[in-house]
Amino acid sequence: MEYKRIIAERLSQLTDIESNQIEKLIELPPKPEMGDFAFPCFQLARTMRKAPNLIAEELKEKINKDGFEKVETAGGYLNFFVNKADANKSILQKILTEKEKYGHTNIGAGKTITIDFSSPNIAKPFHVGHLYSTAIGNSLYKIFTSQGYNCVGINHLGDWGTQFGKLIAAYKRWVDEEALEKEPIKELLRIYVKFHDEAELDPSLEDIARQHFKNLEDGKEEEVKLWQRIKDVSLIEFNRLYDTLKIKFDSYAGESFYNDKMDEVVEMLEEKGLLTESSGAQVVNLDEYNMPPCIIKKSDGATIYATRDLAAALYRKRTYDFYKNVYVVGTPQALHFKQVFTTLKLMGFDWADDCVHVGFGLVKFADKKLSTRKGDVIFLEELLNEAILRAKELIEQKNAALENKEEVAKVVGLGAVVFTYLKNNRERDIVFTWEDILNFDGETAPYVQYSYARGRSILRKAGNVYSDMDFSKMTTSEEFELIKLLGSFNDAINSAIEKYEPSVVTRYILDVAKAFNKFYNLSPILSLEDEALKNARLALVDATTIVIRNGLALLGIDVVERM
Ligand code: ARG
Repeated sequence: MEYKRIIAERLSQLTDIESNQIEKLIELPPKPEMGDFAFPCFQLARTMRKAPNLIAEELKEKINKDGFEKVETAGGYLNFFVNKADANKSILQKILTEKEKYGHTNIGAGKTITIDFSSPNIAKPFHVGHLYSTAIGNSLYKIFTSQGYNCVGINHLGDWGTQFGKLIAAYKRWVDEEALEKEPIKELLRIYVKFHDEAELDPSLEDIARQHFKNLEDGKEEEVKLWQRIKDVSLIEFNRLYDTLKIKFDSYAGESFYNDKMDEVVEMLEEKGLLTESSGAQVVNLDEYNMPPCIIKKSDGATIYATRDLAAALYRKRTYDFYKNVYVVGTPQALHFKQVFTTLKLMGFDWADDCVHVGFGLVKFADKKLSTRKGDVIFLEELLNEAILRAKELIEQKNAALENKEEVAKVVGLGAVVFTYLKNNRERDIVFTWEDILNFDGETAPYVQYSYARGRSILRKAGNVYSDMDFSKMTTSEEFELIKLLGSFNDAINSAIEKYEPSVVTRYILDVAKAFNKFYNLSPILSLEDEALKNARLALVDATTIVIRNGLALLGIDVVERM
């Protein structure tokens, strides 16, 4: 918030420390009686060789107190109490003038961030882990874009590999074209499973599959055609999902895109003397870094996942000249990315340091009903449809007279699933239950969306007009806590960016919704006779809805005006 900057600048003049550095040290005290902002003097004490409380006393005397009610010291801390009337006004006016731009800055102007996310494997079900990657990646895309960065969303499709030999063999024998048109992934999965069952009885199928893949690599017409067909029908299904979630990619360059770009990488590695042989395979030795070797070429000469990622990173640097190159992929692949980044560094590319693996934990659904007949696979469309259905039931109970229930149920159901994904620290494993996802009183999207709709309803009842507000009349702690929170939107965004962690924004929105509900339950608005106070509170409600809407937008979640 602005205040942090103001305090930092004033302290910087009194000490010899840069204001940026001071700003990072400023804390938000846990209790109102400790002030609104606190500066700890302990670090200064070390360089100045003076007791922290003495330094705090000195600074307290000297500092410019404009805009603050008072400045106090306590145990080595300098506590700032802002002038509430001023703060109310400046924060709320900023939000109300900037509206949908509130929270947006241009800090990232001129910098490009490539974000590799979602990246499902063709012909395999888009599983709950890919949805995790999709939700995080999409949110990071929106968060970085809001700060002026130029983002490139890349769907690194898993569209190459020996499994295509098997799929082609299976396709030629057992595919049901009609089923394929209707539910491509299910049908492809069915014939893929069948291939494995049949191959157990007749091992010669494996050789046939190998030959098909070899032909595919050699560009033989039949195999290429079938591969393309399998890819096309899979993409139709993936895109249906992306459309539902309103997610867009700037590039669909998947693994096959790098088929003709790996020779160069292998040559570079050879030139730099980085390739060694290990049981017939070509590898980059990473002993020195306490990692297993990065395999570049398997003993049969086939290139693999890591080689493609090396080629892809190089391609991204050349094409986009990224400032950061981000991969949103589950933590089980942490080692893979470490190996790739280290190899790039060994190749002499300093930009390897700008490559970031954004990992995330495992996702499980506690409800039995969700695990489908076939093993562990949860069909995502079924999951999302069920969320929408359940949301509709809940809405029916809450507000039977609502007009566009279908639409609302869609926004609430999808929002609920995405929100649950983005609620926790991404490294943690999560277990979902429907109760957690759709609880209107819990830490959920419906809770936040409902708070928003409630705010909008108040404003509608007021005819959407308010003016001549007197912000100094808002003196309760509920009001001030809410206003302060609204003012710290950018702190949440910055921290989310620093950690590549959308959950910071999710948590922040939950805090706003909670503070809003507390305020709303304790403070009359429409019934007030004091017009100046009523209008000030309406302005606060309006500002809150703006922040909730903007915040949810950064997570890829919509709001509804009524629910
Ligand atoms: N297709 C991979 C999987 O499903 C994820 C790809 C991630 N991106 C990458 N550049 N390796 O596990």
